[in-house]
Amino acid sequence: MDKRDFYSLLKAVPKAEIHLHQEAVPERKIINKLYKKCSGREMTEVELNNLFSYSDLEGFLQSFMSVQRMFTEEKDLRFIIDALDSYVHANNIVYAETFFAPTSLLKKGFDFTYSINILTAGFKKIKEKRGCTIKTIVDVSRSFGVENAQHNLDLVLHEKNPEIIGIGLGGSETFGPARDFASVFDNAKKAGLHTVVHAGETEDSWSMKDAINLLHAERIGHGTSAAYDEDFIKELAQRQLPLEVCPTSNIFTKKYVKELKDHPVKQLFDKGVFITINTDDPSFFKVSLIDEYWNIYKLMGFSLENIRTIIKNGFRASFISQEEKDAYCAKVDEAWNAWFESHPKA
Ligand code: ADE
Ligand code: ZN
Repeated sequence: MDKRDFYSLLKAVPKAEIHLHQEAVPERKIINKLYKKCSGREMTEVELNNLFSYSDLEGFLQSFMSVQRMFTEEKDLRFIIDALDSYVHANNIVYAETFFAPTSLLKKGFDFTYSINILTAGFKKIKEKRGCTIKTIVDVSRSFGVENAQHNLDLVLHEKNPEIIGIGLGGSETFGPARDFASVFDNAKKAGLHTVVHAGETEDSWSMKDAINLLHAERIGHGTSAAYDEDFIKELAQRQLPLEVCPTSNIFTKKYVKELKDHPVKQLFDKGVFITINTDDPSFFKVSLIDEYWNIYKLMGFSLENIRTIIKNGFRASFISQEEKDAYCAKVDEAWNAWFESHPKA
């Protein structure tokens, strides 16, 4: 199928995205607006290019935090809401589980309740306008130590906001090993929160095993390094524990794969691992969800039927009820079949 038809098909089919960082959705020109608001001038072309250049995960995380620093008051969070509104519309995303990392905002005095209320009120408006449900997973962060992560969890537990469905562990996998955060994730689990962990992004499969066995991770963010551990691939396939694969992100952070065509996600999929496809940080990696599906179709050998399965996997791996999963998957099939009926030559 050519690119035009592929994008038309993918636009027609409702999708879920379950690994998406809220702060990384505003486009570069919006980030420049935010910069102007906080510093009184726009970034030069060179400064913008520098901000969005990184040679590894650590460099990317510095840029991510530079953008977070541009949010100077809670009301700036509206930039995230507006950006998500356009993003879900452009990609026909009808359900999203999105990360919000409060640490650096809290450190400069943001109020957690006020921030979360602004975000969730904004997401409610998106739901009314577009029919897209956006849930929040609080990234308690592995970059600022265990006490900080527990503090973030305490805020979530105190909030009791049903729009916050779980906690995640993002940040530097190398400098903040998952096992250090076992107690925090234990507490989250006991409180009935869902738990997801970035792992296998820059560290080998031991890191994913720790995330699963010690942190009760229900899904793994990235999971690239699983591809180099055959026994673990078998275990993942047997347990059907979903991976939130973000191919373009992995190319930018350059640890295990240098080019999209060499990404091991198809091997994992063929061996029965539960694969979902996501963008991670769309404005940082210049990629949308539909682009990412095109990448795996065009460059990695996924068939159209594989693509349909992976789209449904996005819903199946989410934290909604089985009835909702079934209803969304039925809508995927309906839209898929309708598109082919109206494009008989495709
Ligand atoms: N925060 C935002 N994107 C991230 C990534 N890819 N890995 C770890 N932490 C992140
Ligand atoms: Zn991520």
